[in-house]
Parts: sequence; C-alpha cells; structure tokens
Amino acid sequence: MSNTKHNTIGIRYAVLAMATGLSLLLVGCGGSEPEPTKAPAAPAAEPTKVPDSVVEKGKAAFNQYGCQACHAIQGFAEGAVGPALTNLYVNAQKTIASSEYKSSAGKATTVEEYIRESILNPNAFVVAQCPTGPCPQGVMIQNFKDQISESDLEALIGYLMTLGR
Ligand code: HEC
Repeated sequence: MSNTKHNTIGIRYAVLAMATGLSLLLVGCGGSEPEPTKAPAAPAAEPTKVPDSVVEKGKAAFNQYGCQACHAIQGFAEGAVGPALTNLYVNAQKTIASSEYKSSAGKATTVEEYIRESILNPNAFVVAQCPTGPCPQGVMIQNFKDQISESDLEALIGYLMTLGR
C-alpha cells in the first residue's frame, strides 16, 4: 500500500518536472509566436451569437416602430402585408446571391448589410413575393432612417439576424 502511494507521488513529481521543463522550453523558443491564450478576433460583419439583451431590445423596437403590423415572425408577430421574417437569415442569403438582386440597386454583400438596407433604403430591392401576392413597392415605410435611433436600429438588426439561422 504505502509503496504504491510513494510511487504515485514519485510519478507526479516526474510529470511536474517534465511539464515545467517543457514550458521552459516553449518559453525559450517562443520568440515572435502570438499569445496562445488570445482568441482570434471574431468577424465583425456576421456575429454568430447575438446577446440576449440585444435580442430583447430588438424585439421591443420591432413592436415600437410598428414592424409587427406588416411582418410575421413565427411565435412573435402576425402581420401579413410584407414578407414573413421567420426565416429571414437564409432568405436574405438566397436573395443576395440571386441575379434579381445583383441587377437591382441593392448593394449588400452580407445578411447584416441586407437587413440594414431593407430598413433604411427599402426600394433598393423590392422583395418579389408577399403573403397576398407580389410585394408592392413603397409600402414598406420609407423614412425609418429619420425615425429610428442608432441604438434601436443596431438592436433591431441584431435581433433580425437571429431569425432563420
Ligand atoms: C406598412 C407595412 C410595413 C411596415 C410597417 C414594415 N414593413 Fe418591412 N416590408 C414591407 C413590405 C411590403 C416589404 C416588401 C417590399 C420591399 O422589399 O420593400 C418589406 C420588406 C422588409 C424586409 C425584407 C424582407 C426580405 O424577406 O427580404 C425587411 C427585413 C423588413 N421589411 C423589415 C422591417 C422592419 C424591421 C420594420 C419595422 C422597423 C418594417 N419592415 C416595417 C412592409 C412593411
């Protein structure tokens, strides 16, 4: 029994010594190596996780600015004038890649840019299908950019980016 215990301790010291030696070695040849503990910078355009607080603020803005009167979001809003936004993320990706979009005045290359453009400059590209037929141009409110605060806009876009991902 006591023998085993002694051995275990011995092994532990050996491992510790090796580890120390190893890290010393690593430090020794570290040189220009970047800090290994630093996470790589997240891409700014398409954040993968939108904080809950932003989602909550975005939902509030969606209702405050009357978006829910025209747009449906499954489990949250039931408007039926404009296109449903339940699967906005994937739909936006398809739209951006379409020849219709490329030949329009739309300039977005990311989903975030597309959503921003849809809100601030709705006629740059008019979506084809709305719930009751072809989407009408000029129905989506034209002057949101004068009504919406910058921080509400950011939250709204952050929230809408989570739909259909
Ligand atoms: C009076 C009705 C109406 C209101 C209010 C409205 N929209 Fe729209 N929206 C539309 C219509 C119609 C379209 C489709 C025509 C177009 O693309 O301009 C549209 C298109 C969109 C699109 C593009 C959807 C897609 O599938 O590509 C987004 C995103 C959008 N609206 C977001 C919003 C947000 C956010 C608000 C609130 C700040 C809002 N809308 C308020 C009618 C409305």
